[in-house]
Amino acid sequence: MKIAVIGCGNMGGALVKGWAKAGMSANLIVTARTQETLGSISKACPDINAMPDNRQAAAEADVVVLAVKPWLVEGVIAEIVTELGDKLLISVAAGIRHDRINVYAMPNIAAEFGESMTFVEESPLASQAAELFGRVGECRIVPRRQMEAGMMMAGCGIAYVMRFLRAMTEGGVEMGFRPDEAKEIALQTMRGAVALLHETGLHPEAAIDKVTTPGGITIKGLNELDHAAFNSAVIRCLKAGLEK
Ligand SMILES: NC(=O)c1ccc[n+]([C@@H]2O[C@H](COP(=O)([O-])OP(=O)(O)OC[C@H]3O[C@@H](n4cnc5c(N)ncnc54)[C@H](OP(=O)(O)O)[C@@H]3O)[C@@H](O)[C@H]2O)c1
Repeated sequence: MKIAVIGCGNMGGALVKGWAKAGMSANLIVTARTQETLGSISKACPDINAMPDNRQAAAEADVVVLAVKPWLVEGVIAEIVTELGDKLLISVAAGIRHDRINVYAMPNIAAEFGESMTFVEESPLASQAAELFGRVGECRIVPRRQMEAGMMMAGCGIAYVMRFLRAMTEGGVEMGFRPDEAKEIALQTMRGAVALLHETGLHPEAAIDKVTTPGGITIKGLNELDHAAFNSAVIRCLKAGLEK
């Protein structure tokens, strides 16, 4: 099955690299606006078919994934519609609806490393799309009302996790670690926390109990986070992008 990815920037490029790493290079067709982007994706994934022509890409594919900026989606569909026939058309563009799109999906850029958290909106063809996104990470089919929340938690969520890691890194530097050391320490601590929750199935608060000695130092730090309204800030951050 040939997949054409229209638009090869941060998101399209991550999907292409992730699918290529999953052994799908020979089935990937990729387009972009500039030769520079096409050149760089061809260098990263030499066995894919990179071309400047969206119509040709759509004509040669069985599935088309739109990964251009939201405001370009309508124009690109108009450009390729004659080549689409009844092919599966998937869009990853945030907040854009169009009659011709079969499946709305919201991956994140960790797709490049096979670690996306992707949401696919319920629809008759959702499982076909989910099968593809499942090759670059975890994929959940959810009702339309949860797509925005999924985007905030996982699409945008990557940025929020980065902010936490930046804060931890800067704290480490203030306490005397070199920036590269502090970043590695923060990353390994994050990795350990993720493994702990994955392996035990614990709720985060139950895992916190395991490292919190009564009257000890961990609880002092946790209470500082509460004084600074950390929990509330994270919840407000996640809800900030929801449409009113
Ligand atoms: N970034 C994320 O984390 C993320 C997560 C989930 C969903 N999304 C969605 O993914 C879409 C793309 O976002 P992005 O961050 O990847 O944007 P981006 O980095 O700007 O990439 C857009 C790509 O589209 C290409 N392009 C522009 N016009 C085109 C055309 N007419 N035909 C073919 N390709 C064209 C660009 O080519 P050139 O490079 O040659 O200019 C570029 O490669 C958006 O709709 C966004 O909502 C993004």
